[in-house]
Amino acid sequence: MQHCCILFFSITHKCFEDISFKKNNDICGNTKASMIEATEICKSYGALRILSEVSLSVQQSEFLCITGSSGAGKSTLLHILATLDTADKGSVYLDGVNTKTLKGNRLAKFRNQRLGMVFQAHNLLPEFTALENICMPALLGGLSKTEAEKKARELMQILDVWERASHKPSELSGGEQQRISVGRALINSPKIVFADEPSGNLDEQNAKELHDLFFLLREKFGQTFVVVTHNPLLAKRADRVFEIKKNTRPVLKETE
Ligand SMILES: Nc1ncnc2c1ncn2[C@@H]1O[C@H](COP(=O)(O)OP(=O)(O)OP(=O)(O)O)[C@@H](O)[C@H]1O
Ligand SMILES: [Mg+2]
Repeated sequence: MQHCCILFFSITHKCFEDISFKKNNDICGNTKASMIEATEICKSYGALRILSEVSLSVQQSEFLCITGSSGAGKSTLLHILATLDTADKGSVYLDGVNTKTLKGNRLAKFRNQRLGMVFQAHNLLPEFTALENICMPALLGGLSKTEAEKKARELMQILDVWERASHKPSELSGGEQQRISVGRALINSPKIVFADEPSGNLDEQNAKELHDLFFLLREKFGQTFVVVTHNPLLAKRADRVFEIKKNTRPVLKETE
């Protein structure tokens, strides 16, 4: 696993070569920039009020977990932060960009280049193989097929699904599909990774390895992670936990 990670890093390093991260400091020694700035987010479905003036700031290379009971609004908030849904009120800035100003192709390009997403439902394309699913964002971003497949192969080795490269999603277990969707989220070396219960379908060992990979990526490249989870072990490892409760203000906790 460690060996594979080093290979992957050597490939992804090019994308980050002008950036050097230190915990809590940027390259000039200044306080790190805010990577996500969400202000007074409101969201309702009809009469059902889900998010009420939720504000949240996430720093560059921070690992934030969003926790809370089922139906509390975790996925709703994540989708709004990740530009997959819009808030009724409030603003979201990602990497300094007001997401309200992004539409159509600009929004698609922004997502492709800067955001990685791991969904609760994997949303893999059923007619494509595991390898093709992982390659897709890289090909859309302009990488050649050879380069995309090289990166995808390294990722699949890290995620321990290389033997399933030619399988279609319907031929994969839930956990394998989850790991393929993680590979797809990471292939473009995004600045921010949004994940909705990424280890929900994995056994304890595979979940730990996936979490280790996330933290390794964060440490090496300063990627920012926002992860919805019910996993207490992952929440404990996060820098901060944003706990959402129904009909109560969310609580932001620093972890030890
Ligand atoms: N499109 C929709 N229309 C109506 N209600 C919705 C819609 N999407 C979500 N909801 C409701 O909003 C609430 C929050 O949903 P959300 O998916 O954010 O919960 P969650 O905290 O992610 O839960 P879980 O842990 O079960 O995934 C739920 O009560 C859900 O039924
Ligand atoms: Mg959810």
